[in-house]
Amino acid sequence: MLSDEQNRRLTQVGAGTPMGELLRRYWMPIAAVAELDDKATKPVRLLGEDLVLYRDQSGTYGLLDRHCAHRRADLSYGWVEDCGLRCHYHGWVWDHTGKCLQQPFEEVANPEARFKERVRIKAYPVEAKAGLLWAYLGPPPVPLVATWEPFTWRNGFVQIVFSEVPCNWFQCQENSIDPVHFEWLHSHWTRVLQGDGGPKPPTHLKIGFEEFEYGFVYRRVLEGQSESDELWTVGRTCLWPNCLFTGGHFEWRVPIDDENMLSVGWFFDRVPNEMEPFTQDRIPYWYSPISEARTGRWITTHVMNQDFVAWVGQGALSDRTQEHLCESDRGIILMRKRMLEQAELVARGGEPKAVIRDPAQNACVRLPIIGRQYFVGGYSRADSVERRGRTPGLVQRKDFPFLTGQPDAIRQAFRRAMGLDAERQMPPD
Ligand code: FES
Ligand SMILES: [Fe+2]
Repeated sequence: MLSDEQNRRLTQVGAGTPMGELLRRYWMPIAAVAELDDKATKPVRLLGEDLVLYRDQSGTYGLLDRHCAHRRADLSYGWVEDCGLRCHYHGWVWDHTGKCLQQPFEEVANPEARFKERVRIKAYPVEAKAGLLWAYLGPPPVPLVATWEPFTWRNGFVQIVFSEVPCNWFQCQENSIDPVHFEWLHSHWTRVLQGDGGPKPPTHLKIGFEEFEYGFVYRRVLEGQSESDELWTVGRTCLWPNCLFTGGHFEWRVPIDDENMLSVGWFFDRVPNEMEPFTQDRIPYWYSPISEARTGRWITTHVMNQDFVAWVGQGALSDRTQEHLCESDRGIILMRKRMLEQAELVARGGEPKAVIRDPAQNACVRLPIIGRQYFVGGYSRADSVERRGRTPGLVQRKDFPFLTGQPDAIRQAFRRAMGLDAERQMPPD
């Protein structure tokens, strides 16, 4: 059980708060690269700050204060130019470093004053990687955007999915180190929701947790498995500070503010050997709804939707003074302790864990990956069905099980990539 004070420390994300300062040491994914092809500006709220993301006509990304430094108009209604973003109110132009490039009337009325050289706007660095746009809100020196191993993989269909979840990011991240929930929130609940009389899902017999350079590994032995299975020998990753990494996908829990979280999913589906080589010109993205329009109830049909129901059910800010933690929560206890320690370290001027600055180290940052061979080398379609055997997650999927509302165009592109349309011998959905 935590004290009120500890609960506050773990959950507040604003500038100047302990956790807010810790989180500002890491790049956060905030949009898809392809999103700015569709519209050149995007309003963003990140770590309690209102910002505008844009790509100008020369291809430079910028992330600025949402409010113009002249008289505070909303710059997400501005338009991009060759260089920078122009405010729609009086036409001032800002560049990605926060410099004012033009003040049209001032330059006519009072050119000698050179007022534009004396005003600046808040600006943060943005970088594109793996189809995502990343933002860094912390102090210099700016670290590297991690090149996680899956970002280097080839022959995969990648898609990016966003959802806005109305609760604090940290209760979502606690779920990244909670193996037992899978059995109940996903396996059993899905069975109940579907009225399925099939076999009972395997129960957890043993769980284990350990810290490593980039977070924590959690391990499990399920009924019918042993300590020689990869769910135990390799495990899955609670990726520091705000991500779950399962091997085939990442789920970042990006703090919008204290009571809202942007879920950013990056999903990799290896195409069968028969479909190689496969490349994507553009990594598609979509937004997934979390509640039913008709009833306002949360959607429960997909894996991550079920997670969202659990998280929002804890309240916008889970009250950890009222919990009763036990053996299944060992990983959560470990992570909370490390978070609070690392926040203190940052407050003392130290460098927290998993900040990557060495380009050689960042060429490809390896993580524990169940079935790495499958993701890297692929299998033929027949092999895949055979080998996925005892390890959940290694399967050539026909549909997208994680989030509801996948647009049909993306589903069709996925099926083409996997060779599903051409191959009528595949079992029906
Ligand atoms: S408020 Fe932006 S130019 Fe005046
Ligand atoms: Fe889950």
